[in-house]
Amino acid sequence: MQQAKARIDQALHGAVARGEQRGAPPRLAAAIRHAVWPGGARIRPHLCLAVSAACGDGDPALADAAGASIELLHCASLVHDDLPCFDDAATRRGRASVHVAYGERCAVLAGDALIVMAFETLALAAARHPLRLPRLLGVLAQRVGMPGGIVAGQAWECEDWAALPDYHRAKTGSLFAAATEMGALAAGGDPDVWRGFGEWLGEAYQVADDIRDAACDEDMLGKPAQKDRTLGRPSAVHEFGLAGALAHFEQLVDHAGQSVPEGPGAKALRALLNAEAERLLPPTVRAQAVA
Ligand code: FPP
Ligand code: MG
Repeated sequence: MQQAKARIDQALHGAVARGEQRGAPPRLAAAIRHAVWPGGARIRPHLCLAVSAACGDGDPALADAAGASIELLHCASLVHDDLPCFDDAATRRGRASVHVAYGERCAVLAGDALIVMAFETLALAAARHPLRLPRLLGVLAQRVGMPGGIVAGQAWECEDWAALPDYHRAKTGSLFAAATEMGALAAGGDPDVWRGFGEWLGEAYQVADDIRDAACDEDMLGKPAQKDRTLGRPSAVHEFGLAGALAHFEQLVDHAGQSVPEGPGAKALRALLNAEAERLLPPTVRAQAVA
């Protein structure tokens, strides 16, 4: 895990530094740094590296770039999600969100630049296995764009009605699926057998986020609480109640565990899944949810 963290940090630093070479507009460069550091749990790139390891880690540099590209897109999506036109959130990860710190124009551009940086990072790392690049790019584009990627997921918020599973699977599950599929692809493995694990874990993650939004306060979250209720967003808590959402979360984690393909990495991946479930909803939050 420690080694994976160092690999992810290095890949992210390399990608961001490339965009800061001489001639870069300093305010936008600072806004991009603010968006990427300090990070959250970096769960998506960790997942990508863990799946690559389970598939033999045949091209570590490509796996690192795949993980970093997914994380850059995740950071971009959070910058845009916090904007006044979406969630209007003034804080993220315990400090000012990007538009509060650098203004709305730089925040829009930071998100735009991070999207391009993600694809560039991936493309530049494929020298050893160029034939793996088209499928990696294809998966990343599909999991981010239309009709079922995170952009589409966010767009369900602009509709009058959305089915909760469609919304959750696109808004969050799709980038987790990218993490497992791209981890496999980078190592020369089969992405299809890894998709389910990413999808189930991603959906569980969004249900946990809904529970945390309702059950925790801003200090604990490092971002505004009760947003789903105040903005009228579709949410697992609204649909099932807090205790029902918790039961739904546990079911999804169970599905994720069952969908891990058997093989040498299965034990490590189930351990990662259980650690993540515990981190997302520690006993104190679970107790609050059922109280
Ligand atoms: C956070 O959800 C937001 C997402 C998971 C996806 C956001 C996607 C976009 C803004 C589309 C644009 C995409 C790119 C690549 C720029 P949340 O509001 O439920 O969680 P939060 O409490 O962490 O804000
Ligand atoms: Mg939000």
